[in-house]
Amino acid sequence: MIGTGKMGRCLSTLLRDHAVVTLHSRDIKKARAIARRIGVDGADINAISGSDVILATIPTGALQRFVEESAGAMRPGAIFVDVSSVKVGLVEEVLKRLPKGTGYVSIHPLFTSPKVKEKDVAFIPVRETATVERFLETLSKSGMSIFRTTAEEHDRATAATQVLHHFALLAMEMVLQRHMKSSERFKTHSLRKTLAVIRLVERNRETAVMIQKLNKFGKGVREEFIREAEALDREFSN
Ligand SMILES: NC(=O)c1ccc[n+]([C@@H]2O[C@H](COP(=O)([O-])OP(=O)(O)OC[C@H]3O[C@@H](n4cnc5c(N)ncnc54)[C@H](OP(=O)(O)O)[C@@H]3O)[C@@H](O)[C@H]2O)c1
Repeated sequence: MIGTGKMGRCLSTLLRDHAVVTLHSRDIKKARAIARRIGVDGADINAISGSDVILATIPTGALQRFVEESAGAMRPGAIFVDVSSVKVGLVEEVLKRLPKGTGYVSIHPLFTSPKVKEKDVAFIPVRETATVERFLETLSKSGMSIFRTTAEEHDRATAATQVLHHFALLAMEMVLQRHMKSSERFKTHSLRKTLAVIRLVERNRETAVMIQKLNKFGKGVREEFIREAEALDREFSN
């Protein structure tokens, strides 16, 4: 497992009882400390050459460089896995940089915490090897529900389920910030729930901003949302 952030910790926790997981960080001391807390082993970068699956949970923008630097160490038959929230463009760039004998699957876990009930995972088979089937079985045994898709179908769908969702909440947050001081005592039960979701998006702000910028179907959906908001405003102003 490459990266000790939110996804690296979440997936290590889910997979630890069903696979031999070793956790790698750019800082080996940090890897060992976090690995110990999770109940797996820490690993330095040399672990790549002994691994069947190299699961990179690092920021989307760092993936190409990571693959360039580590491709030489991946053994034939092993698979490289990314968990990026945007796929179109990225998948092609990663594939170009992988050695020929290495498989590649691109997954998107649609959750950040191992504790959530629905653990759906979008799965894009890019270059399959015998290891892929075993990897999918391991995800299933770890409680994840996998469905197959393509990079384009994924990004079109997540333009609605992520770009639109986060955009609306982030815009609402800006307006609420200006008004909440005087409205604090009037918070409704449902607004408290909305504020909790906004905090969740804020905790993943770097990823949320990356999705807004890199999902090529996102701008169209944002514009559609703004048009609908303006139409509703006209309707309610009459
Ligand atoms: N957060 C979510 O809800 C979520 C859900 C699904 C998919 N994803 C995807 O998962 C990926 C990671 O997201 P995250 O939320 O886990 O991010 P995160 O919490 O920021 O963790 C990313 C980890 O990657 C490592 N890293 C950071 N910059 C790096 C660089 N330049 N080169 C190499 N490693 C670097 C760091 O670990 P070390 O310091 O240990 O090296 C860092 O903790 C993104 O592609 C995102 O789209 C996120």
